[in-house]
Amino acid sequence: MSDKLKQAQQAFDSRQKDVNEEYRPKYHLSVPAGWLNDPNGFGFFKGKCQLFYQYHPYDTVWGPMHWGHWTSENLIDWKQEPVAMAPDCAYDAAGCFSGTAIEEDGRYWIMYTGVIDEPSTGRTPQHQCLAWTDDGIHVEKAAENPVVGLEQTPEGICPYDFRDPKLERIGDHYRIVVAAKINNEGNVLSYSSPDLKHWTYDGVYAAGFGEMAECPDCFEIDGRRVLVSSIMACKDESLVLPQPVVYMIGYEKDGKFCAQTPMRDIDRGLDFYAPQTCLAPDGRRLLIGWAHAWGCETPMHKLGHGWTGTMTLMRECWIKNDSLYQRPIREIESRRRNEAVRENLLIEKKMQLDECSGPCREMILDIDVSETDSFGICLMETGEECVVLSYNRQAGKLTIDRSASGYSLTKEDAGLSKTRATADVSVYGDMLSLRVFVDVSIIEVYVNHGERVLTCQAFPKGKAYGVSASACGKAIIKRLVSYEIV
Ligand code: FRU
Repeated sequence: MSDKLKQAQQAFDSRQKDVNEEYRPKYHLSVPAGWLNDPNGFGFFKGKCQLFYQYHPYDTVWGPMHWGHWTSENLIDWKQEPVAMAPDCAYDAAGCFSGTAIEEDGRYWIMYTGVIDEPSTGRTPQHQCLAWTDDGIHVEKAAENPVVGLEQTPEGICPYDFRDPKLERIGDHYRIVVAAKINNEGNVLSYSSPDLKHWTYDGVYAAGFGEMAECPDCFEIDGRRVLVSSIMACKDESLVLPQPVVYMIGYEKDGKFCAQTPMRDIDRGLDFYAPQTCLAPDGRRLLIGWAHAWGCETPMHKLGHGWTGTMTLMRECWIKNDSLYQRPIREIESRRRNEAVRENLLIEKKMQLDECSGPCREMILDIDVSETDSFGICLMETGEECVVLSYNRQAGKLTIDRSASGYSLTKEDAGLSKTRATADVSVYGDMLSLRVFVDVSIIEVYVNHGERVLTCQAFPKGKAYGVSASACGKAIIKRLVSYEIV
């Protein structure tokens, strides 16, 4: 074990004792101490789900990247594993950036980005590296690293923006697609290899993703290809966030992705980035993302809480009506307690929904909106603060707004963070269906059985357990089912 990895492990162990748990979600995965960003190496190995993550052990802001690691046998209970990788080689001394993994012949193969430290220029060029684990705990890096160098890239590449390989097995060979900035445009490049060590550049897989197509993910559902990417400097204003995570559905031809749908946001909330997917042994396509947006900052850093970084719920996704649908994996239902059901609630003015109050909840609402202009739910209410979820019937929009809740997430210098996000939503037979998860400092809203998702963090200053509904006109909550989630 390298000194850097040992040191990181010590920090991992010792810093957990000093964290403040005030904003720690209960049923969302969050980093025990330090900083977390992207999910990495998400997949299954020897029957266990593997979830690595971008990890900085020494601070609650981004820094030299390590890989942290969790495993799970049931997708609900997660075991903290030792720190998996540290930036301890010349080819990754400035960071082990994001990557992916697959199981092959009893080995879990990882492709990740090694970032080089170039003190003479102060710059950090990037290239692709190989690693593996045989026991699902200890990770070994390949002696041949880097296995894809900058000399294998097309002209016009920015050497500091070549990262995030997504590894797949395709027929008798391996393939990675990698994000690259070429002539200032976000591209996804494709490489193939017979043995994971020798790679050939195959060309541009897809292009036109703002200035950078971070964390490309591609996979097949129902014989169709889906391409996902987290875009930097996106120029498309129809997308929710300045750094949106988009997907397109299409097919592959001659090693290129051909889109059949426009780019659409996967999640229309304020906090969602760098998702990865994998195929579960039972055939489900699972997805998990970092519940955060670059340019935002949680209060835990300034408050000295000792940790920051939360994942979304694990979701299952599928294609319907040419769109990507998502719902939380069904395993989450095993954590439901104390079911409360109410029917035919007429909402004309503000009404407290006491059965929904509490820090860790799930609520399922079927709302008849035929006689209402707008309908709203206040979540995480204290009396002075709340996060507002509001539906405007004429506009056909659902908005989540955290501007009246607790700490601001706006970073002074960034200008990337927003306080509200809006999604277009349909109603079916006058009914709007919402499934809302509240977990201490994170909210996920699933609309119309997976048609839309909005994820949003909030950090209330008070004990924000209240929930209320209100309407302009008349709304009828036909059925409300609420659970405590433990
Ligand atoms: C996305 C990202 C990746 C990179 C990693 C570094 O959030 O910027 O492109 O590999 O984070 O931590």
